[in-house]
Amino acid sequence: MCGIVGYIGFRQGDQVVISSLKRLEYRGYDSWGYAVANGKEIEIKKKVGSISAVEVKEKRAEGVTVSIGHTRWATHGKPSDINAHPHTDCDEEIAVVHNGIITNFSSLKNELISEGHIFRSETDTEVIPHLIERCYKDSKSFEEAVIKAIKFLKGSYAFVALKKDEKKLIACKYKSPLILGVGDGELIFASDVPAILEYTNRVIYLNDGDIVIAEPGKYRIINERGEVVRDIELIHWSIEDAEKSGYEHFMLKEINENPRVIEDTLGEYVTDKIELDPSFAAGISEIVIVACGTSYHAGLIGKYVIEKLAGIPVRVEYASEYNYHQIIPGRSLILGITQSGETADTLEALRAAKRMGLRTCSIVNVVGSTATKISDHVLFTRAGPEISVAATKSFIAQLIVLYIIAIKLSPLTRQEKKELIEELKSLPEKVQRILDKQHDIDEIAKKLSNFENIMYIGRGLGFPTALEGALKMKEISYIHAEGYPAGELKHGPFALLGENTPVVAVINRDETYEIMLNNIKEVKARESLVIAVSDDKDEEVDNFVDFAIKTPETLPILSPILHSVAFQLLAYFTARIRGCEIDKPRNLAKSVTVE
Ligand code: G6P
Repeated sequence: MCGIVGYIGFRQGDQVVISSLKRLEYRGYDSWGYAVANGKEIEIKKKVGSISAVEVKEKRAEGVTVSIGHTRWATHGKPSDINAHPHTDCDEEIAVVHNGIITNFSSLKNELISEGHIFRSETDTEVIPHLIERCYKDSKSFEEAVIKAIKFLKGSYAFVALKKDEKKLIACKYKSPLILGVGDGELIFASDVPAILEYTNRVIYLNDGDIVIAEPGKYRIINERGEVVRDIELIHWSIEDAEKSGYEHFMLKEINENPRVIEDTLGEYVTDKIELDPSFAAGISEIVIVACGTSYHAGLIGKYVIEKLAGIPVRVEYASEYNYHQIIPGRSLILGITQSGETADTLEALRAAKRMGLRTCSIVNVVGSTATKISDHVLFTRAGPEISVAATKSFIAQLIVLYIIAIKLSPLTRQEKKELIEELKSLPEKVQRILDKQHDIDEIAKKLSNFENIMYIGRGLGFPTALEGALKMKEISYIHAEGYPAGELKHGPFALLGENTPVVAVINRDETYEIMLNNIKEVKARESLVIAVSDDKDEEVDNFVDFAIKTPETLPILSPILHSVAFQLLAYFTARIRGCEIDKPRNLAKSVTVE
């Protein structure tokens, strides 16, 4: 999704925004651009393609510089130099970078065209500078014009605007992420923390409706009620946390962080007891999980676990579909799961639930993100910054929180709970054993990398594990991979089996074990190559499959954690063999901030 940056300070602005935009590349984009207000005019550069090799070598005159920058992920209008941001008004006196969607842009554009405004791009964003231009005529200042202009906008926006002859940036936030980094004598706006860390670790998470007027060394925040004060929070991540630390890809680095992530997330909730106030779920009749992508799969695993341990019914909904259901007021707890805390569909589902008076709780990785502000309760995962578009360590951290919820809400005895917690605590070491043998998984990846279709199957907890395994595979290796409940194979997918379609089977040593082996026999009879993921004490499975990925033995209910780490590596190595752009797969974005 688009990334925006705005800088006002003593450094050379174009260099700052380019370097900050590079730290937002993980969000996914197809074009980039920046603008510098040099006092006389606005200099703009924008282009389709990657910003990674872009550098500004020429030195500018010293003094305060005012710049904005953008990485665009196309929504309205194809990726092109013209559609790339910044966009300007007719006279190129005002420039804007924007993340979000202006839903009423088409009627605004027609209105502005009829008044004589000339548009250059197909984007929704371009109406913003034109509206500011229109409002400027009857305003006393640039900021007054921006405030008047946003009254016309519907939809979502985080934008930063500059004017050719003003030492000022004006930023507005509504339903799209925007933070302000507060340095010594410099201010930097950005969509996310990695973009500001080089300059400051002091950050303000802006609220919807906030308008910031940033001038050299000072800023004011106003909203419809007047001037407001927002807390400055300290970020404890270092730039290195957000960088690759010698790994070939962020994804591999992040998979290798899984043991630390499990430890930190457990450490957040488990001391000598579970540190989770059960009041967030007091008196509820059911839990409805809303989430997208990998977070949705964490929710599906959470359903099995919470229902089994706590006996509370759980529904899991794609957040993007939740709004189309009849939301029934009652005693449901709506549990949003989102790594970024900014996924538009998940936020909309949480807001819709709230409007119906339902209690909301979110499992979130990014502190200060929108989900943390709109939910009644927040449970943090401690995965740290996740840069690779494909979620890995954040998924494992989400599972840990879901297990904690299930154990906390369950009627198990103290001793039974203790045993589960002890086993959870042993997982970092068990995950490390999988990581230490990643070479074996690389060997299996070599077998899979030549296929164009892979079927992942499982039963019970193995089914959502299979879904997530297939999602990882398809998003980064571009192999078509599908997750299926093993019992459903006969109802259609069997027609696809054969020597061109390998099957990856999740084997759990629980009540699904025998029947899974039967299903594998049926698959083998159709000549598909079969790869199993199973635990290292299970020797029987070797008689049924072509290859097996062995993970350390654990309680069957916890097996999705270990199996998923193995699947993350399997997808990673397969994509690497195929030469894919692993951290930034084509057409995908890390943070999907539009519905
Ligand atoms: C995008 C990302 C996925 C992620 C999903 C939900 O599609 O590429 O990795 O699972 O969004 O994101 P969230 O931040 O809400 O967990």
